[in-house]
Amino acid sequence: MNIEDLSLELSSVQLPDEQTLEQFRIRFLGSKNVLKDLYAAIKDIPNDQKRAYGQQVNALKERAEQLYHEAKAALTQTQSVGPEEDLTRPAGDPQVGAHHPLSLIRREIIEIFNRIGFVVSEGPEIEDDWHNFSALNFPPEHPARDMQDTFFIQKGEEEIALRTHTSSVQVRVMENQAPPIRTISPGRVYRNEAISARAHCFFHQVEGLYIDKDVSFADLKQTLLYFAQALFGPQTQIRMRPSYFPFTEPSAEVDVSCSLCAAKGCNVCKYTGWLEIMGCGMVDPNVLEACGIDSKTYSGFAFGMGVERIAQLKYRVTDLRLYSENDARFLRQFKPGMA
Ligand code: DAH
Repeated sequence: MNIEDLSLELSSVQLPDEQTLEQFRIRFLGSKNVLKDLYAAIKDIPNDQKRAYGQQVNALKERAEQLYHEAKAALTQTQSVGPEEDLTRPAGDPQVGAHHPLSLIRREIIEIFNRIGFVVSEGPEIEDDWHNFSALNFPPEHPARDMQDTFFIQKGEEEIALRTHTSSVQVRVMENQAPPIRTISPGRVYRNEAISARAHCFFHQVEGLYIDKDVSFADLKQTLLYFAQALFGPQTQIRMRPSYFPFTEPSAEVDVSCSLCAAKGCNVCKYTGWLEIMGCGMVDPNVLEACGIDSKTYSGFAFGMGVERIAQLKYRVTDLRLYSENDARFLRQFKPGMA
């Protein structure tokens, strides 16, 4: 092989694939490459031509190297996975989901009551008349049944209902457990209401129940004060207004001092300084007896609150419909402990 031939070869060489490229590498750049003979022949070249000869061989070598690297680069690029699949690229920001605001509030409520010994209990959303009404001291045909517009479903002969409140779980717990009982029951409830910003056909409640010997109204009040301060802050005050529920006697509605305006008065508390958050009372002896608990030995208190209502106060969400529309722009805004 002489310089001319190799130069001609290099000028027309094609290196379309790995295999040809490897053969080319062995031939021109490998340990026994064709240029070695040309370098070895330098000693036979007349002195005055040595320099020019050497330069020509060097040029061949450089050209071969250049061709090799260019072809190699071209081949790796066609094989490469492209910028969006570059596995060495730093990862983008992970998409972290958010908890639903109602889950956050429910969890917070449960946690607060857990600390003072209340355990969670749950019951079915499809209920019978006994658990939703009769055992809770709603006599048949009593107008108190109309306080909660009920969805009834005819199932053969039987009429069943979607529970209108989580108070039905109280009944199930008392029927199945002996006192002392300390339980909270979170869950979804249903009412036959037209959907608007202020009402929905389903919403969420947390029910509380405490049954033991010598449970007093003072215990109820102190428990709810503890809860309100844990949820809304240590400055929070509560007040109780007499009310009526068939399943408690006496009954009360509970207000907390408005944390948005430090009880000075704002449009959320309608300039009263107070926000209504739940109903409560001493469990009516009729309810204890209906559930098989001796009302001479035991007494207890119960309370029930709306989760949406509390979320509305903590997150200032004024339209109830947002909670069930699954709009990601709304849901993304909630982080645990933000309120
Ligand atoms: N069940 C009632 C409602 O849905 C709320 C309630 C009031 C629950 C008083 C109670 C209670 O346990 O004692 O409106």
